[in-house]
Amino acid sequence: MGRVLVLGSLNVDLVARVERLPGPGETVSAIAPIQRLAGGKGGNQALAAASAGARVVMIGAVGDDEPGRAYTVRLSGRGVFPRLAIAFGVPTGTAYVWVDETGENSIVVAPGANAHARAEVADLTPEDVLLCQLEVPVDVVAQAVRTAARLGARVVLNAAPYAALPDDVLAIADPLVVNEHEAGLLADSGAVPRSLLVTFGAAGASWDGERVDGIPVPADEVRDSTGAGDAFCGTLAARLAAGDDRRAALAWAVRAGADAVRREGAQVDPAL
Ligand code: RIB
Repeated sequence: MGRVLVLGSLNVDLVARVERLPGPGETVSAIAPIQRLAGGKGGNQALAAASAGARVVMIGAVGDDEPGRAYTVRLSGRGVFPRLAIAFGVPTGTAYVWVDETGENSIVVAPGANAHARAEVADLTPEDVLLCQLEVPVDVVAQAVRTAARLGARVVLNAAPYAALPDDVLAIADPLVVNEHEAGLLADSGAVPRSLLVTFGAAGASWDGERVDGIPVPADEVRDSTGAGDAFCGTLAARLAAGDDRRAALAWAVRAGADAVRREGAQVDPAL
């Protein structure tokens, strides 16, 4: 069974629950005290992979500050080995998250220390999976993806938030994971990945035409969609590292995504 090496972001999520998301130029009031939660697509995916049974290394960067130290302790305490750079004089990444009463969200990210993440993946083996997203610099992700390919490791690349990727990176990712919105941007760009996995939220997911239905969650049980895609990606990578075939790994991932919308925050027990 291989490991999952996650290269990505670690954020403090400052979460305001609102009745409805504000429109442009609009001010709305929070309906509950602001919460400080652990987030960032990298951290979320690392912890999801660990929950799915993988041995996980988290590669990223935090500030020399209290949230950075708290997050490092959090990872270690949950079975994730932290391989984190300390960015002196730069704050740990912060995300400002609004969540409405239907569980829908809007997010603004201040990258902070995430801009200092490095592609420290030279210990990958052919049994391992490298899992990346795009909240750390694209050139760092590209470097890690190329190293993984050279060392024979599988790459799962979640193109979120969407950014253009070099052709050779698109030719390595197996799969490139996108949601419907990102799939539209990818199609508009004319880029053609080697392997494409599109998630459809409650309607499931499709990996190069291999379709797995969604798991319906009743509307009154949906608490928060933040991190549902991360639960999907982390679980997918964990199951692939465990040797599952595509269909089995996809089914596990769809279930993890459905479970995630039932809880508040982007991780299990997310208080930071
Ligand atoms: O995918 C959800 C994550 O996006 C949040 O935890 C937030 O930190 C942003 O990175």
